[in-house]
Amino acid sequence: MQKSDILENLQSIVGDDMVSSSAAELYCYSCDASQIRGVPDFVVRPSSTDEVSKIARLAFDNDIPLTPRGAGTGLAGGAVPVEGGIVLDMSSMKRILEIDLDNLLVFVECGVVQEKLNEALEPYGFFFPPDPGSSAMCTLGGLIANNGSGMRSVKYGTTRNYVMGLEVVLADGTIINTGSKTSKSVVGYSLTDLFVGSEGTLGIITRAILKIKAIPKERSVLLASFEGPELAGRAVVKVLSSGIVPSACEILDRNIIEAIKSYDPNISLPDADAILLFEVDGTENSVKEGIEMIRDACSSLASNIRAASDKKERDEIWAARRLVGAAVSRLDPLRTRVYVGEDVGVPIKELPGMLNKVNEISKEYDLPIMTYGHIGDGNLHTGMCIDVLEDGDWDKLNLVADRIHRTAISVGGTVTAEHGVGSARSEYLGLELGKGLNVMILIKNALDPKGILNPGKMGV
Ligand code: LAC
Ligand code: ZN
Repeated sequence: MQKSDILENLQSIVGDDMVSSSAAELYCYSCDASQIRGVPDFVVRPSSTDEVSKIARLAFDNDIPLTPRGAGTGLAGGAVPVEGGIVLDMSSMKRILEIDLDNLLVFVECGVVQEKLNEALEPYGFFFPPDPGSSAMCTLGGLIANNGSGMRSVKYGTTRNYVMGLEVVLADGTIINTGSKTSKSVVGYSLTDLFVGSEGTLGIITRAILKIKAIPKERSVLLASFEGPELAGRAVVKVLSSGIVPSACEILDRNIIEAIKSYDPNISLPDADAILLFEVDGTENSVKEGIEMIRDACSSLASNIRAASDKKERDEIWAARRLVGAAVSRLDPLRTRVYVGEDVGVPIKELPGMLNKVNEISKEYDLPIMTYGHIGDGNLHTGMCIDVLEDGDWDKLNLVADRIHRTAISVGGTVTAEHGVGSARSEYLGLELGKGLNVMILIKNALDPKGILNPGKMGV
């Protein structure tokens, strides 16, 4: 089929206004927040599952790559159409279809923005726990497709733990429903789990049944400072292995603290090589007890421990933490943050060694690494900034990222704990998954025999 015929067909499915093919608009969809680029031939904004199904059928019949996209906040190129074709902008499908408080669940379209769901739930005293740095922008579909997580997963788990069922459009346009509203079911393979984290390579997620939780009554934050990141790593091992369950456990190293202060000099953070931010939520008594237990566990390792004085300070600290990714670039105006090698995860016991190793690699290559992240999940964001106009800087960055990835795998860890594989990390899947990658490829071929769904991603 000619390009003009495809355009006409797409327009007849969604209406003329919901298809873009001008160079300027296509350019806007050629990237996410990573360095990966790929220009689509068409951008289509469906409003219903039926439209998604018809678009998939058209793509299937004509061998056109089809890349679903939420808000484009991904950090690994997951929503970038590296082989061109159609980008499906799912952000128009943004209805919250049902809030079912008796069953503690919601039924949503996949274009709902994460924070909008929480705004809708708050008056009822409920929330949807997964909390990525991009929660003000990212869509639930993107969050599910990437199994996103963020700052609360140390206690609440990742998005996967909240997806009870999905509506998915398959490569040939078939619409299926997975899972159910029951809290337990053992009927067949868990297809829901197959699609969660599949990054748009197996199907297009259009609707979801999600679990919600009651908002805890109290929250409190403790800041522990350390002379050296390794000590902070040891403190995390000590806290978590004593069975304490904080609702957040984040690390910020010296560079990150500086970046936050340059963003807002009024934020009161200690001057230290590393700090751990612990939050505990629950009832008044359980919070008090949790905070004291963390204080005890950290006392022999930390140089200073203090609690955030009030809600205002606590909210300021979290708001600043959310902006770290952007604020990092302020440390050197000539350099740009590049999301490469920035999302490793290691078993908790390996954290002190991993933090040391990251410092060693940074020194060896003379490339500053700014470490922050969800250390309670073993998840470290090793942030790097380079002069993007210098080829030599890119070479160095890629070498450093490669060392960090391989180090994480060598201690039983993962190259990406929450940002996803996309195009950025495909090359490590064989190393991390071994023969498991062959099974992934078999599944991909079974569900997407023509390879049209988000091609060039996830090593499949
Ligand atoms: C964060 C993003 C980068 O934790 O995952 O801020
Ligand atoms: Zn993160």
